[in-house]
Amino acid sequence: MKHLKRSKSDNTSDLPSLLIRDAQIWTKNDTTRGSILVEHGKIRRIARSITERADEEILARRLIVLPGLIDGHVHLRDMKLSYKEDFTTGTAAAAAGGFTSVIDMPNSLPPTDSAERLRERAERASGKILVNVGFHSAALNDYDEVRGMKTAGAFSMKLYLPSPIAPLDIDDDKVVVQVLNAAKQASLLLTVHAEDMTKLPRTEKITTFAELVRLRRGNAETSAVRRILRLQRPIGCRVHFCHVSLPSSLSAISDRASSRLSSEITPHHILLDENHVKTLRWKAWMVPPLRPGKDRQNLFRAMKMGIPTIMATDHAPHTVKEKAQPPRESSPGIPGLETALPLMLTMVNKGKLSLGRLVSLLATNPAKIFDLRSKGRLENGADGDLVLVDLKKRGMVDPARFFSKAHYSPFEGWKTQGVVHTTIVNGLVVYREGEIVGKPGGGKILKSGRR
Ligand code: NCD
Ligand code: ZN
Ligand code: ZN
Ligand code: ZN
Repeated sequence: MKHLKRSKSDNTSDLPSLLIRDAQIWTKNDTTRGSILVEHGKIRRIARSITERADEEILARRLIVLPGLIDGHVHLRDMKLSYKEDFTTGTAAAAAGGFTSVIDMPNSLPPTDSAERLRERAERASGKILVNVGFHSAALNDYDEVRGMKTAGAFSMKLYLPSPIAPLDIDDDKVVVQVLNAAKQASLLLTVHAEDMTKLPRTEKITTFAELVRLRRGNAETSAVRRILRLQRPIGCRVHFCHVSLPSSLSAISDRASSRLSSEITPHHILLDENHVKTLRWKAWMVPPLRPGKDRQNLFRAMKMGIPTIMATDHAPHTVKEKAQPPRESSPGIPGLETALPLMLTMVNKGKLSLGRLVSLLATNPAKIFDLRSKGRLENGADGDLVLVDLKKRGMVDPARFFSKAHYSPFEGWKTQGVVHTTIVNGLVVYREGEIVGKPGGGKILKSGRR
């Protein structure tokens, strides 16, 4: 590919303009050949041919332009967990993976459990991020606190059932109802990690990761989903179920056919099953864990049919030292930002997933769920967040080359077809052919319901 750079002309704005020429552009349901002009960080024009000049031009004849992907579930760490990942490395991983906006989970250190903490975290992030970043906050049952977090721009409050971030007696339905009511009153989305730990055996002796994964039974997830659904129904607040790993959980949600409910799947739960744990051990240890092959297949089928609302990576980096421990002591979580799109494009190439489904799972629907109104689609006036992919190019997952600090992956060595060529955030090229070319601070802090 050729990249022509022109010297800045008489452009009055400090943001250079960008012209993507002669690409396959994803519009509503299909790709059409054309060019995109981005000015002042926004899409100015999409047309079959644009003769205007821009500060920078990309000749994209072999490339497909998609709306920049939105990952509603990442753990960027930083602060006291910077040794695992920091805002710059995490958002570099996002850019390399075609994600132009990510929303950070609140289990940081310190945790994002108040309006004040959210503002501090946003301030810390602002000079360091390469893509746009929003924040989820911890679930609380105090209305004033919840309203405060909403005002500070939280995208949701996260109810982490395995062990709540802010001390809450989540086994008590009354407490969960208070959380749901506060969410409703503050018009704040509730995101849920649904796993009921009381449903799991405690005492069993285990020596392998395969045993650890099998002990973390699926009914702990499905019963937690059912419980939240039962408590949500009379209240009617919006609830989003994170990383749903089982068809039974997914159908419990979709059977309600409510626009106030949404669900999320991850690449790992649709591509890997518990058999992978035997050989990959800690590299394949995350929560919810990998499931039996039959469940994985049915989850994949449900995805093809459009049942889950979105896909998120649950990018959850830890050090190798924290992971390569005996099963009970090993930290659950894997990095996912740099593998999701190549893996999904591979599915598109194999005819197992349509490009349209991919775009709705990773861009259009996340924009709707998280109310990012000027994102998730390519049209005049939308934000200049785009990803250029080369659908034909082959690659291989190589964790040694991740921008993330977490240099391991259960997908290590997987052959892929379809790579991220260029990632554009707010009209600026941030990633191009293997290199980060943007500057930390180029990403914006996203606040729910703003702009
Ligand atoms: C996440 C983490 O490490 O923060 N781990 C994981 O296995 N998914 C926590 C979470 O999302 O539940
Ligand atoms: Zn090129
Ligand atoms: Zn979780
Ligand atoms: Zn997570």
